[in-house]
Amino acid sequence: MRVPFVINRAAPVPLQRQIYDGWRQAILSGRFRGGDRVPSTREHAAALGVSRVTVTAAYDQLVGEGYFEPVTGSGTFIARELPDYPAMQRAGRSAPAAAPLRLSAYARRLEGRSSRQPAAPGEIDLSGAGPDLDYFPFAEWRRLLLRQLRRLQERAARGREQPAGDDRLRREIAAYLGRSRGVQCGAEQVVVTNGSQQALDLCLRVLVDPGDPVAIEDPGYPGIRLLAAAHGASIQAVRVDDEGLRVTELSDAARVVHVTPSHQFPTGVSLSLRRRLELLEWAASRGAVVLEDDYDSEYRYSGPPLPALQGLKDGAPVVYAGTFSNVMFPGLRIGYVVVPRTLIAPFTRAKHLLDRYTPTLEQRALADFMSEGHLERHVRRMRRLYKRRREVLIAALDRHFGRNASVRGDAAGMHLLVRFAPRDMTRRAERRGVRLISADPYYMSDKSPNEFIISFSAAGERVLAEGIKRLA
Ligand SMILES: Cc1ncc(COP(=O)(O)O)c(C=O)c1O
Repeated sequence: MRVPFVINRAAPVPLQRQIYDGWRQAILSGRFRGGDRVPSTREHAAALGVSRVTVTAAYDQLVGEGYFEPVTGSGTFIARELPDYPAMQRAGRSAPAAAPLRLSAYARRLEGRSSRQPAAPGEIDLSGAGPDLDYFPFAEWRRLLLRQLRRLQERAARGREQPAGDDRLRREIAAYLGRSRGVQCGAEQVVVTNGSQQALDLCLRVLVDPGDPVAIEDPGYPGIRLLAAAHGASIQAVRVDDEGLRVTELSDAARVVHVTPSHQFPTGVSLSLRRRLELLEWAASRGAVVLEDDYDSEYRYSGPPLPALQGLKDGAPVVYAGTFSNVMFPGLRIGYVVVPRTLIAPFTRAKHLLDRYTPTLEQRALADFMSEGHLERHVRRMRRLYKRRREVLIAALDRHFGRNASVRGDAAGMHLLVRFAPRDMTRRAERRGVRLISADPYYMSDKSPNEFIISFSAAGERVLAEGIKRLA
């Protein structure tokens, strides 16, 4: 048996007392059975680096009070009859019942979400969201991380307090967003976050009180619905049509409107220019904020890239959230939020209170990855790859289903929304070994009209073609 506790030399409690308390608590908490052998005083003294005299004195006390039993010639054991037990048994209970722990209102509002099971052997997985990691330049990434690791030592290890993120990374992000997304901002408006999920969370922390209405798209991203519910917001589901969010259906009281304008999640439609202007005007006139979640807009396959809502009008009340999860890899856990100047201080304070700042090493390596052009090169390469996969998927749907499958949202992103005419697609998929995701859980008001989300970024061309063939 090992010594079941550690001692604290800085504590004002004498070492002998710490050893006595350590054993007594370990025994009473039920970690040992009567008759278990305890270490010899010599082993014990060596394990804790204390003198044997101190350990012997503590053991004597434990023996004297009946917690330990010495057996001549064999050693010392946990007593079979513990001194506190008779009193507990007399009181008619074997151990005091623990009072139930009370959850906060926030915790009570948290809803579980079942995690995805990995595909079974032989199953064709058309549900695998996210980038294809086989193509990520991990060798380059490792080189940049190592370079930063070598430089790490004092500066980064001490972690200069930069709650809004590494300055160089913030400059890189601001420049990148200006070039690729038409976002208009200075580096000081960028707050680096742990993924864009944290960006959404910060936005609700800063702008929403319990009971405040938050408008979200229907169908929409469950991550914002669960988050808004956890914060105690009153959720307003706003329907989406072929032009995106129906702005006229927004309630006047909404404080924040979450939108995915470049590639609505999950329908894939883009918010029309008319609706964009309407939305910005609606928000500006009511002091509400548009939370633009630009999660996968780097991948656009037809037509010019749609500039972000954020850059459309000077001074528009838009908080823009983005992520490296889809253009690099989700495990990186780095995202960002671009906020209007008046919100820089509250966002920075909220981030500092939440987790101080995002890990420094990865931020610096990422700044290098961007400044050396690797990010944009990788995005261009993946765009070509995903474009081909998307064409293969659409061709397979056309060949095997013809008019019995209609595709939405194929101009951009990493998935399609497919509406099938046959009503038995879920059963077919199960029977034929295809993993397929129904769009039902993404709808709040109604069930989806027999729609499925088919992801083409993480599956190869042969897998996509074979999956659709099996479904047909
Ligand atoms: C629409 C949308 N927003 C935000 C996120 C959060 O992604 P991350 O925290 O990895 O940046 C996701 C991830 O699935 C998403 O689909």
